[in-house]
Amino acid sequence: MTALRVLHVASEVYPFSRTGGLADVLDALPRALAGLGTEVTVLSPWYRDIQPKPQLVAEFGEVHVGEVREHGVRYLFLGLPEFDRGGVYHPDDVWRFVRFCRAALPALDALGVSFDVLHAHDWAAGLLTMLARERGVRTVFTIHNLQYQGRWNAWEAFSWTGLPEGAYPALEFFGDINLMKAGLLSADVVTTVSPTYAREITTPEFGEGLDPVLRERFARKELVGLLNGLDVERWDPGADPEVKAYRTYKGKAPNTRALRKEIGLRGKPVLATVTRLVEQKGIDVLVDALPELTKDWDVVVLGSGDPRLEAALREHDGQGVRYYEGMNEPLAHRIYAGADAFVMPSRFEPCGLSQMIAMRYGTPPIVRTTGGLKDSVPKDVGFHFQKAGAAALVRAARSAAKALEDPAGWRERAELGMAHDFSWGTAARRYLDLYAPAPAAPKPKRTRKAASAPEL
Ligand code: GLC
Repeated sequence: MTALRVLHVASEVYPFSRTGGLADVLDALPRALAGLGTEVTVLSPWYRDIQPKPQLVAEFGEVHVGEVREHGVRYLFLGLPEFDRGGVYHPDDVWRFVRFCRAALPALDALGVSFDVLHAHDWAAGLLTMLARERGVRTVFTIHNLQYQGRWNAWEAFSWTGLPEGAYPALEFFGDINLMKAGLLSADVVTTVSPTYAREITTPEFGEGLDPVLRERFARKELVGLLNGLDVERWDPGADPEVKAYRTYKGKAPNTRALRKEIGLRGKPVLATVTRLVEQKGIDVLVDALPELTKDWDVVVLGSGDPRLEAALREHDGQGVRYYEGMNEPLAHRIYAGADAFVMPSRFEPCGLSQMIAMRYGTPPIVRTTGGLKDSVPKDVGFHFQKAGAAALVRAARSAAKALEDPAGWRERAELGMAHDFSWGTAARRYLDLYAPAPAAPKPKRTRKAASAPEL
């Protein structure tokens, strides 16, 4: 039997480019699929500074293609003049990703790369879903975050797509072109990264205006939530070179001592978070809660983002709070290993990876009950709260502080989290089922009796 050929397309893929969890999924899922015998290609833009640097394999006019082969996966990077800049995202991204999607299929054809399934991720690959569909390949579109949709005024952007007028309704959204909508409507199957988020986005509260479309697809069972896994090799407390490696909760203690020393606060239990500082993550709620939280905890925050949130955190720095601005991988590892508890007050969270890392490192998370946080944090490991407000967060953190006073009970929680299976295997197998659905079983012949009205 020949292997199923799957093409993944996304705007970021770790370690080449990363701003968030999307890149981590594009690192781990293709590898897991390759491990299950699939032939996987990953296509992403060739941003100027990506590392490791791809090898140039083809040039057609202003389009060039780079390649890296690793872990049984073929990574292709599509270079266009628009992507020859630093960083990942820019204000003209709708234009850039329309260009990217339009150039993708001709470039793959020229390279002789064909595929049976297109698996496109988030709005940046939405238009490609539509274009690939015309070729008769199976298409799967995954929502990692519905908040970013790729919108631009329609009178300008529609002409960029080169599509015939008949395609307009599928792209139009309140006078804009919406590339997320293009993906949602044109894919054979739409998935998102947790079962709870899949249900949430069918409601006006979480649907970001697209809930009518999503409700319809959900009702037809064409919108499915599959919980992400975690790269359990990259995040392995037992073999982590950045920390004093440990396999049992007991072995975590030296890391806790080291972190307390490093942050130089009051030696209270450490409550930590590692995050992008955006509204989605509820960091404003965390800031509001700091005066109360610091009564029980020393609080550590690592991350950057919204300048107002950065300023607010800087203001608290030193008052029972340590704020590290920016992203720093080794420090992130030390925080996961050294903190006593982890906090994620997200307003919405399609899946979230940090809570899984924290649990794997024996650091019980305090989370808002939403999306992937609800689905991945067992109640006997972490602490949940419902309302996106400081009072609810403080109450949950207080029960965590109380629980921490019973070392045996706490240890049990932490060990349960450490033993949990976060690996990608299960999710990868479920994606395979979506790529190649078993042919529908022939309908059993109806006997005359069954076909007739029930006998009374
Ligand atoms: C986005 C979501 C996050 C999810 C990640 C990977 O970053 O905000 O919740 O874990 O995508 O799917």
